[in-house]
Amino acid sequence: MNLISWNWHDLLMTVENKNILIGMTGGIAAYKICTLIRDLKKAGANVKVVCTPNALNFVTRLTLQSLTQSNVFVNEFDVKDWHPEHISLADWADIMVIAPATANTISKIATSVADNLLTSVACAFTKPMIIAPAMNVNMWRNEALQENICNLKARGVDFIEPEEGFLACGYSGKGRLCSIDKIFNAIEFMLDYSQKLKDKKVVITSGGTIEDIDPVRYISNYSSGKMGVALAKSASRMGADVTLITTKYIEAPFKTVKVKSAISMQNAVNEEFEDADYIIMAAAVADYRVKNPSEQKIKKTGKDDETLTLELVKNPDILKELVQKKGTNSKPVIIGFCAESENLLENAQKKLKNKGCDYLVANDISKKDIGFYADYNEVTIFSKDGRKTQLEKAPKIVIAKQILDWIVNEQV
Ligand code: CTP
Repeated sequence: MNLISWNWHDLLMTVENKNILIGMTGGIAAYKICTLIRDLKKAGANVKVVCTPNALNFVTRLTLQSLTQSNVFVNEFDVKDWHPEHISLADWADIMVIAPATANTISKIATSVADNLLTSVACAFTKPMIIAPAMNVNMWRNEALQENICNLKARGVDFIEPEEGFLACGYSGKGRLCSIDKIFNAIEFMLDYSQKLKDKKVVITSGGTIEDIDPVRYISNYSSGKMGVALAKSASRMGADVTLITTKYIEAPFKTVKVKSAISMQNAVNEEFEDADYIIMAAAVADYRVKNPSEQKIKKTGKDDETLTLELVKNPDILKELVQKKGTNSKPVIIGFCAESENLLENAQKKLKNKGCDYLVANDISKKDIGFYADYNEVTIFSKDGRKTQLEKAPKIVIAKQILDWIVNEQV
């Protein structure tokens, strides 16, 4: 097998003509954001700043106005016309970058508190968002803040971690705003979501299927559904018409179909098959279901009840049947997933051959910090014609984007 070295940096968009909304909060690092604004303007971006009143204690309105060549937005009641400012700014921007972000503002956004113009815009924002925090080291370590950051990350917000060093409060430790170059690169990366999948229908399955034993018990697996959700979010950001078929409920700006068992998942996928351009089977489908699930709760009998035998029957192999249904047509491109606990390469290659799908994305769940329930993943993509590409450990949202980028680029 040939190993393809694939670098997503080569595919980045430029910021030229993009509308970038900087959300500035009240921290000493605010002065550094002036350099970011200048760099973005130099690169041809349109920049507007929305800031908290406290931010203006660190940088003047005149500085920001001069750098952006635009009004600076602070007060939600400074409405110029009938459009509420928080909605028109959210509509205008291609991306929102909150930097420096205080613990206060991060936590408000995580819990959808919209008590000033910046937090109101952030709560109404559905496009890519980057947050670059800067604060005292102990504030950064605060568990409640870290939980809020985890929640925002899980919803697709990109965080650029603060760096270690001397802090303005006199402490030394993690808390300094990251470099301006890092924020600039992250903006390019996030903008790269742009419309690569426009007019394409992408169907994604996610989560572990649930096979009933009786009305209170079931057989399932440890799949959290996070990878499937990350793929759906990424595909949606790339302009795709997304259908997420999921065993877990999620609130999403795209179509979701809630299913439970393998059979119901198969029915839902078949409903979407006809006009699909891509089908991504990220779900962990139970291979077997209980032959005759009991309609009533199974009770212990008190006699000979030391063991209980459940008879299981094989579930359909959804992926394999999709491949058969597609036959020799070029559409839809079918992508399978596999989580292996040993012999990843060997098992993945065998599985790809056996299933016959176009690509198989494999991960090694024996590795710590990746796979089920983790926010990170590290995968290898195998293609039908014998190539493989490794994607290094990264947040699932980044891996999702890389997988989609890779597959989309293969089709052109
Ligand atoms: N899959 C499916 N239907 C099944 C089982 C699996 O569509 N009944 C899909 C999964 O969604 C995934 C791929 O097949 O995209 C591989 O799943 P995996 O569980 O690794 O494969 P299995 O065929 O179940 O193989 P194993 O014997 O390793 O469990």
